[in-house]
Order: sequence, then structure tokens, then C-alpha cells
Amino acid sequence: MTDSLAWFGAANPARRVGRAVEHHAEIGSTNDRARELLSSPDGEGVAVVADLQTAGRGRRGRTWVSPAGVNLMVSVALRPDVPPELSSLLGLCVALALRSACSSVAPSAGLGIRWPNDLVDGLGRKVAGVLIETVLADGRLAEAVIGMGINANWQQEEMPPEIAAQATSLLELAGSPVDRVDLLGHLLDALDGEIQALERGESPIERARAVSWLDRHEVEVDLGEQVLAGRVAGLGDDGSLLLDAAEGRLALAMGEVVRVMDAAPARVSS
Ligand code: BTN
Repeated sequence: MTDSLAWFGAANPARRVGRAVEHHAEIGSTNDRARELLSSPDGEGVAVVADLQTAGRGRRGRTWVSPAGVNLMVSVALRPDVPPELSSLLGLCVALALRSACSSVAPSAGLGIRWPNDLVDGLGRKVAGVLIETVLADGRLAEAVIGMGINANWQQEEMPPEIAAQATSLLELAGSPVDRVDLLGHLLDALDGEIQALERGESPIERARAVSWLDRHEVEVDLGEQVLAGRVAGLGDDGSLLLDAAEGRLALAMGEVVRVMDAAPARVSS
């Protein structure tokens, strides 16, 4: 287990994202703690990292499972000043930052982004997930709590079977253990850069398109009230999933890819 002092090595006061690091051996959810910090004077941008979450959350109300001291679980809360037309692209910025950090330890894994913002290896197995909880005011992003979970040093045989079938880890991909503090430092550098670019009005969409894993796959997308089948045609300018379905080309702003017909089963949680 990495001690609290070592985690401070990933902090950098020159950055807005991760200018300080707060480490917890155990916590409910790092997202909740990061949100709490936003109401204290210096809390914006503090990276909250935990060895164990007792109430870790995934997207769509799912649980995020991770054994103690093995993976990287971190949240940062921000009041970003993002042009409203770019706010739907925040998730892709986070996924690109995750890709940059994870590619630094597993450069030949062919890491890609699976819409909306999962990080997957070349075979579509999940390496990292993103949970962003936002507050909107007058159509603008007022607050964003950005939670990231990376399967870092999780051995495939230690994963619960339902996760092992659809996930992998940097340890498996790189063939050796990952230094989680170094990984966090790289992630915070990359995320800081992505947020700054978005605030300057620069869209990440072309960079996201270049690494979009779902393109050309036949998929099923759960929209809550119906499941749509179709072929993925790419990403729209706003980060939506372009799906060629029986109805024609659709731009899906929300939804969950629950099946990829011509690949390993789509991983929906870890
Ligand atoms: C998903 O893929 O469903 C999103 C998973 C996000 C998990 C991370 S771990 C750190 C942060 N705290 C949480 O409770 N969730 C996120």
C-alpha cells in the first residue's frame, strides 16, 4: 500500500487540476469528498485519491468495485469556465487525459475511447471509467466533479468473473506493476491541459475521433426506454454517438452501449 506522504508527490501547485492531493486509506466515494472540498476556500482542483472506496459509484447508478490498494481512484471538483457549446465535450477531455496517462505505461496496448468516455484496450476491454457529476446554471457548467477509476495493478485472476470477462488492467497490458503515484501525476498533468484547452474554446473532438474505438462496430444502445441497434458511424461535433440505424443516421447524446456484436461483450461496469 502506498502511504499518504508518497501521494503528495503527484501534486503540483503550478497546476489548477491536482495542485494538491488528499489521500484516504478508506472513504465512501472520492466524488463526494471532492464535491465537499469545493465549498472550502482552497478546495477547487484538489485531487482526492483513495485506496478503498466503500461506496464507489459508476455511471447509471452502478457500483464501482475495486480491491484495496490496487487501482487508482481519484476525483477532482472544478468550477470550469467552459463555453456552453463545448460543455458536452468535458467527458471526452477526461477520457483523452486518461488515455494519455495510461498509454505512458502501456504504449502498445492500442488504447481507445469507447463512447461516451470509457478507456478500452484494442480488444475493447475496459481499462478505466469516468463518472462526471455536474451542476448547471443558466445553461453553463457551474460545477463538475470528475471521478476516474483506472484498473492499474489488478490481476485478471483476482477480478470477479463478470468483470474479468470484459476488463483488463495496466498491469496485464504492460506486463509489470504500475507506480500509481507516477500514473496520478501524469493524469493530473494531462487533465489540467485538457481543461485549459476546453476553457480556451478548443474542441477535443478531432483527437477523440482519432481514437474512437466503437467506429464501424455493430452495436446495441440502451436509451432507457428502448434499445436501438445499428452501426457506429463516428462521433458528432458535440460528442454524440452517430448511429446508422433502421431509422437512418441518429445522433445519440446519451445512452449505454450494451452490446458490441462483432467484438468481446461490451463492458458496462467494473
Ligand atoms: C463507470 O465507468 O461506470 C465510471 C466509473 C467511475 C469510478 C470512479 S472511482 C473514483 C470516483 N469515485 C467514485 O465513486 N466513482 C469514480
